[in-house]
Amino acid sequence: MWGIYAAPLTAIGLVVLLFLLLDILWKLFELTRTVLAPFFMPEEEVSLVKKYGPWALVTGSTDGIGKAYAFELARKGLNVVLVSRNKEKLNKTAAEIESKYFVKTKIIAADFTEGQKAVDIVKEELGALPINILVNNVGRNYEYPMYLTEVSEKDIQDIIAINISAVTLMCRAFIEDMHSKGRGAIVNVSSGSELQPLPLMTVYAATKAYVRSFTAALRYEYGGTGITIQHLSPLFVNTKMNAFSSKLQKKSFFVPDAEEYARYAVMTLGNMDESSGFWSHGIQKFFIKLPPVWLRTYIGARMNLEFRKDYLESRKSSNNNKNGHCYSEETSKSFKELDK
Ligand SMILES: NC(=O)c1ccc[n+]([C@@H]2O[C@H](COP(=O)([O-])OP(=O)(O)OC[C@H]3O[C@@H](n4cnc5c(N)ncnc54)[C@H](OP(=O)(O)O)[C@@H]3O)[C@@H](O)[C@H]2O)c1
Repeated sequence: MWGIYAAPLTAIGLVVLLFLLLDILWKLFELTRTVLAPFFMPEEEVSLVKKYGPWALVTGSTDGIGKAYAFELARKGLNVVLVSRNKEKLNKTAAEIESKYFVKTKIIAADFTEGQKAVDIVKEELGALPINILVNNVGRNYEYPMYLTEVSEKDIQDIIAINISAVTLMCRAFIEDMHSKGRGAIVNVSSGSELQPLPLMTVYAATKAYVRSFTAALRYEYGGTGITIQHLSPLFVNTKMNAFSSKLQKKSFFVPDAEEYARYAVMTLGNMDESSGFWSHGIQKFFIKLPPVWLRTYIGARMNLEFRKDYLESRKSSNNNKNGHCYSEETSKSFKELDK
């Protein structure tokens, strides 16, 4: 009986084994590339200006990764359009870039929670100025790891508008021009949270999984026409987005500051369509992707529960120190969890 099934079952087993082996080899190749490529890439072999053109636009460019990325592009000779909400911060950042790198800048104040209206403002302010590199960096997360019902409806809508709609509509607004010219680059910034569902940052991680899927499909539609469409997926970077954790506010082997991160991330532009953007993030990503998704989800949940506990404890102790300080109803309710 077993005899007649032995040969086909062995064949199926061998094919599955072969695919597993290929998967691991591919991950090893990716890891080696991410870790080693930045050290061997001749920086100025083909300059970004020559390859794509002189103007870049970076969204969310007055803080964190976006600001550092804009500086790095300027260091490589690109003129930069900075887009964020706050005019004062925009003016300050633009002045810093111009005085340091002697390139041109333009600032546009737009709020990406406003959907297409923000994109229309960007287009109108740009006028005839063509954008050669579009960096969809703007992103928003929860204030700290929360259960879904603790996040306000407004915050959920804003996160979806910023992380999903802004990326989608900005790509739609600029890709046609790049396509007709046969050159240009789009960088869509997601996050390591796209690698698996992430409890207590449920909406954020889901929006970043959207960015990964959207970018890969867009590359399929427009790739091979001279346009680079990169999915940039950082792990932890020391920025104010992670202010909920004192551990993530310290630069370390696995948590670079925004400047260091951007230096490597820009090096991958035009060389890697999918990248974590930083060599030690490549190492982390390799190990993160080894276990099955359900285990990664479990580990992610444990990690976020730890961050949540640390955050609530620090908020509670500062609450005790500051007489009369008021927290939102949801945060106050969460304090009770610590007493259990
Ligand atoms: N930091 C990390 O560990 C990490 C890890 C993985 C992925 N990422 C991703 O990397 C990207 C940048 O993160 P970050 O940590 O650098 O963020 P950040 O430090 O919080 O900076 C956010 C930037 O976006 C602007 N901004 C915020 N809301 C906006 C809105 N509604 N409209 C327009 N601009 C807005 C902010 O300026 P104004 O407030 O002045 O508008 C600021 O310049 C995000 O997509 C994030 O998801 C970050």
